[in-house]
Amino acid sequence: MHAVLAAQQARAREVVAPEVLTWIDDAAVDGGWSAYRFRPHVLRDVSSVSTEVSLLGTTVSSPVLVGPTAFHGNVHPLGETATAAGTAAAGSLMVWSMRASVPFEGSGWWQAYLLRERALTLDACLRARDGGATAIVLTGDTPYLGTARRAPLGSQDQAPATLQDIDWLATKTGLPVLVKGVLRGDDAEACIDAGAAGIVVSNHGGRQLGRVLATSAALPEVVDAVARRVPVLVDGGVRSGLDVLCALALGASAVLLGKPVLWGLAADGAAGVEACLRAVGDDLAFVMGLAGCQSVADVDGSLVAETGP
Ligand SMILES: Cc1cc2nc3c(=O)[nH]c(=O)nc-3n(C[C@H](O)[C@H](O)[C@H](O)COP(=O)(O)O)c2cc1C
Repeated sequence: MHAVLAAQQARAREVVAPEVLTWIDDAAVDGGWSAYRFRPHVLRDVSSVSTEVSLLGTTVSSPVLVGPTAFHGNVHPLGETATAAGTAAAGSLMVWSMRASVPFEGSGWWQAYLLRERALTLDACLRARDGGATAIVLTGDTPYLGTARRAPLGSQDQAPATLQDIDWLATKTGLPVLVKGVLRGDDAEACIDAGAAGIVVSNHGGRQLGRVLATSAALPEVVDAVARRVPVLVDGGVRSGLDVLCALALGASAVLLGKPVLWGLAADGAAGVEACLRAVGDDLAFVMGLAGCQSVADVDGSLVAETGP
């Protein structure tokens, strides 16, 4: 884990209420990124390295984005308003959780759970769109709350989303819809056939089904099936530039940070979120250079080898 993130996590442990800490840390699983080893290039001109990428029309300073996590008001009085400010300051993009503590504002993407009241789901998405959201991220791995989640702060009004909901949301909102929570190539294929504009490989940080595949292990199969038709993003235990480099080499277009953003927010509000994103983004630039990559386009599958445990 990057030292800045570790320090923010330690600070968060001091300032966040114990029951909130339990909720954040629940079922935390490893992304498995260290199962891979790098095969760096030498003698490449890396005197300047750019981490900039474009995702569905949004250009960001690095492929390190803010993933959707609920109720930022639990760790900071300004809630998502502070997270969004820190994200913008870092030149990144934030995926707002549908369970946000404050209404959507500014820019970014909007994560949707399907609610039992479908009209409410659509309503929330339309409000986010009208507030400036440029994509919907439909979370697909929560037909109901996972057994691992004690969920004292959660809510139980969700319903199982299905493939038809992709097109329903895309048509009604006019926005691209990504599907979050995909761990298999055949599911990614089905989502694209059903109209998905992007795939997020995620196991919800291990908070849904137990003993689930590490996202680094699922990513290659999904990337293969998607075959560059839409961007593939990934989350789960991404904590350093090396983790991001591995994810990019395995074919991801970007990564999402979940818990580290909450630690940064708890530790120092908007400035903490900015520091978290910059730490990982700068670290990515540093290790890209060491691996002989000048831009994200130079990072390909030849850069990694799986060595096993
Ligand atoms: C406290 C907490 C709240 C979360 N809330 C949401 C949510 O509202 N919607 C969602 O799609 N995923 C949610 N997730 C899952 C994250 O988006 C992400 O998949 C997971 O945390 C893995 O990334 P990480 O290891 O960087 O935390 C939540 C995770 C945490 C830890």
